Order: sequence, then C-alpha cells, then structure tokens
Amino acid sequence: MNTAVEPSRKPITLHRLREMHAKGEKITMLTAYDATFARLVDEAGVDTILVGDSLGMLVQGHSSTVPVSIDDMVYHTRCVARGNRTAWVIGDLPFGSYQESREQALRSSVALMQAGAHMVKLEGGGWTAETVHFLTERGIPVCAHLGLTPQSVHALGGYRIQGRDEAGAQTLRKHAKALADAGAAMMVLELMPSAVAREVQADNPGVMTIGIGAGQGTAGQVLVLHDMLHVTRGKLPRFVRNFMAEGGSVEDAVRRYVAAVKDGSFPDEAVHAY
Ligand code: KIV
Repeated sequence: MNTAVEPSRKPITLHRLREMHAKGEKITMLTAYDATFARLVDEAGVDTILVGDSLGMLVQGHSSTVPVSIDDMVYHTRCVARGNRTAWVIGDLPFGSYQESREQALRSSVALMQAGAHMVKLEGGGWTAETVHFLTERGIPVCAHLGLTPQSVHALGGYRIQGRDEAGAQTLRKHAKALADAGAAMMVLELMPSAVAREVQADNPGVMTIGIGAGQGTAGQVLVLHDMLHVTRGKLPRFVRNFMAEGGSVEDAVRRYVAAVKDGSFPDEAVHAY
C-alpha cells in the first residue's frame, strides 16, 4: 500500500483543501491526540488531523466527551502540532468552552490556534451560526458539526441516528444552511442517513462536508483512529471498518484508509451507511 506522503509534501492549507473539494478529490481525516500518532498519520498521507474531544473517552477513560476541558484540548493540540509536519490540524472546542458567548468561543478558539490548530470545530445547529460568523470574521477557520453531536448525548437520549424522519432531515438541512451562510468552511456530518448528508452537500456546494456514518456522498470522511485500528473496547458502530485486520502494521492500516477514502471504496453504502 503506497499512499505515504512524499517527503516534499507541502503543508496542507485551506486553499489546497478547497481545490481538492472543487476537483472532487475526497478529503481524508483521522483523529490523533499525541505526537507519535500525529506523525504517523501525517506520514501515511492523511490530509487533516482532528484533535477530537473523543480523547475524553479514548485517552482519559471517561464515558462521554462531556468532562473534557479546554485545558485538556490545548495540551493535546500542542502534542499533535509537535508531531505533525504537513497535515491540516483541527482543534475541537470541548463542551462548555463556547456555549456561553461569542467572546468565550473566541477565547477558547485563540487558545487552540495558539496551541497549533489551523481550524476549530464546534458542535451544534443554527444556534452556533452567530458564533461561527464571529470567529470566521476574526480569521479563525471553522468546522461545524451536525447530526449526532456527542457533547449533547444526554439531551439526545444516546448515540442515535439523526434526521431519520422528514422533519428531522429538514431541520438538519436548515441548520446546515445557516452554518454555511455564517462562513463554516467545513462541516462534520455524523450518524445520519446517506440521503440527508448528500442533500446537505448539494445544498451547500462550497462547504467541505466530512462524513462519519453519513455515507458516501460527502466531500470527505473521518474516523476515530482507535476505532479503525480496532483497539477501542466494546461494540463499534457499523460505520467503522477494521483497517488493522487488512494491514500488517498501524502505518499500513492508515495508508489503506487513505486509499479507500480516496478511491471511494470506503464507506461502502451497503455495509457502513444508514
Ligand atoms: O471528537 C471526535 O473525535 C469527533 C469525531 C467523531 C468527528 O468529533
């Protein structure tokens, strides 16, 4: 499997990601939380690294992402930034670090950007549009996150598929439009029917939608690194493919992931979608 980046790969910029999207080249994203895996994922050719607040469960051992603090995210973003050379780094704004006010969101985003993030991600629907606008106007690229938003797990009643009925699908489309209009450059679409994710992408062609359990019709894909390496304990959702089973090493598994997203063989609509 040879998708390893050339030693000469230039740092991935927002401009480069937009070019890929315009050409129809799929964008790859994986989570990483430390320098070692950031380096490995970057060298295996992943376009974007998400320092996700999923680290609350995978690194810190919590049962949800709710307890993760902005200080935790700053620490792990610094670690990733030290290991990474060329991938685009996205820092996740954790629960409670942006909900209070636009100013609070700006302070938290500045902390992540100064730790080495190139973009921040925040969860939530139309109510976050004003914040997205406030941040983008101040030079901070924003990735929105719609569908299953894990920080709201207690309000959503569990890790459930979102937008299954017509009303739910319309609400997701409405929120996506508001976030796109507010300036979100990227949008994670988590756990929703493929048809809904496809509509969101079609409604907002300039936005790079990144799916996780959202089918094949998005501009790119993201998985949690521990899940695709199958080191996460417990039952994994059906949208996860075990790339470690196919490769002889972690590096090879990550390269296979990159190749499968780029050539459109992952996700498989018949196996990994809803
Ligand atoms: O925190 C995270 O890892 C995420 C992904 C599931 C998209 O938000």
